[in-house]
Amino acid sequence: MTDQITGTLVFTVFTAVLGSFQFGYDIGVINAPQEIIITHYRHVLDVPLADRKALNSNVIDSTEEMPRTPSPIDSTPTPPPEEEFVEDSGLITMLWSLSVSSFAIGGMIASFFGGWLGDQLGRIKAMLLANILSLAGALLMGFSKMGPSHILIISGRAVSGLYCGLISGLVPMYIGEIAPTTLRGAIGALHQLAIVTGILISQIVGLNFILGNRELWHILLGLSAVPAILQSLLLFFCPESPRYLYIKLDEENKAKKSLRRLRGGVDVTKDIAEMRKEREEASSEQKVSIIQLFTNSSYRQPIFVSLMLHMAQQFSGINGIFYYSTSIFQTAGLSQPVYATIGVGAINTVFTALSVFLVEKAGRRSLFLIGMSGMFVCAVFMSVGLVLLNKFDWMSYVSMVAIFLFVSFFEIGPGPIPWFMVAEFFSQGPRPAALAIAAFSNWTCNFIVALCFPYIADFCGPYVFFLFAGVVLAFTLFTYFKVPETKGKSFEEIAAEFRKRGGGAARPSKAATEMKFLGASERA
Ligand code: GLC
Repeated sequence: MTDQITGTLVFTVFTAVLGSFQFGYDIGVINAPQEIIITHYRHVLDVPLADRKALNSNVIDSTEEMPRTPSPIDSTPTPPPEEEFVEDSGLITMLWSLSVSSFAIGGMIASFFGGWLGDQLGRIKAMLLANILSLAGALLMGFSKMGPSHILIISGRAVSGLYCGLISGLVPMYIGEIAPTTLRGAIGALHQLAIVTGILISQIVGLNFILGNRELWHILLGLSAVPAILQSLLLFFCPESPRYLYIKLDEENKAKKSLRRLRGGVDVTKDIAEMRKEREEASSEQKVSIIQLFTNSSYRQPIFVSLMLHMAQQFSGINGIFYYSTSIFQTAGLSQPVYATIGVGAINTVFTALSVFLVEKAGRRSLFLIGMSGMFVCAVFMSVGLVLLNKFDWMSYVSMVAIFLFVSFFEIGPGPIPWFMVAEFFSQGPRPAALAIAAFSNWTCNFIVALCFPYIADFCGPYVFFLFAGVVLAFTLFTYFKVPETKGKSFEEIAAEFRKRGGGAARPSKAATEMKFLGASERA
């Protein structure tokens, strides 16, 4: 098995997941410099600092020791702000929410087109073209200090989001296609690992003494241009997906050439035979449209479960943590919230690496349930910690540990599993449509959380995570009653499970029925 890991394969996978890395970087980068950028918005828009109601009225340069002013999830009631500031504070909160969430709007729109673009241009050219968006987004943000910053940042994040939406389809597809079958699960999981590494790096370079300061925050935002340029250059040396060449273009010789590069010149007849089988499967099944997924009774139940899994992942509030953890930690009374944020990124990376192994051993359903149940308990403790912060100082540690564990439980199941479980519910015909709609729902929910979190936090105060706990509990119960196990099961068995749990099932083709799902090997 190890002899299948060639230099070309490692180089190619590394190049591809530079896209996932940018995705993670863009998620995490907005977190640490929040206060500084908000201060800058105030400055540009001439909104006075006396404004106390905006999300982060505790907007201070972390280098300066200033008294902590309350944020919306504080349990101390704040004196009502003066009338004239209320409108402005609303404006700043809205602009900041948009700066965070416009990224997800871009992702939402583009997530529909990743697979399509890959089919039209080939995987390599599609990734190259997508990088234009990444560069454009990085430039808009990198130069945002010189113009109307709020407009440049909001539009730059939206354009970067378009890139991330595209690659959230393209990268898993490409790396799944070039991976040897025995390594497809582990290589597929490198997408999520690169995402969390991107989050972590963005948190580190976002430190005050690196780039997260008043002078350099715009460079921090524009820095994703570096992996974009690197990826664009390296892509020229990557082989096109043999599956795309063979199954889509019917170019057997080119496919063989590409395979030889990836496998190191060994005999590739086995790979070609496997692809031939796949091509037969694909041609024996009709393509299913997105509308048919909802109108055809045999697809309704699996697509409903797919959407619920992605909703569970996002409405658990995970990105509330990744977008806003610095301000949450500040509220929890930590004097160095940025370091706690980096701790979250580090734990996140460790547990994602762990889940790469776990997911191949334990069932998806059980890992998802364990992850969600753990997140429920942690969310309760997060809120308890914030509510009782005024009574006991040590409660800040309760909140902090609860956040760390919340993220760990997320990566054990709810983080990685929805991304590949949907592919396991559907056979070749309906799979592309199901994956497109699933990615779209993921980004839509991501957008809703990014946009609404400051408002919900403002409204609920320290009780905000009770709300997420309730949501997580509801999704846990749903999973318990409605989500079947897929590990090691054929489509026919999965379909039977769906029927047992009520509703129809993804009726598979005969050829596809014979195909066993081994672990996460079908992640692509
Ligand atoms: C998953 C989610 C993404 C989240 C990330 C955190 O990939 O889809 O929204 O930010 O996990 O690790």
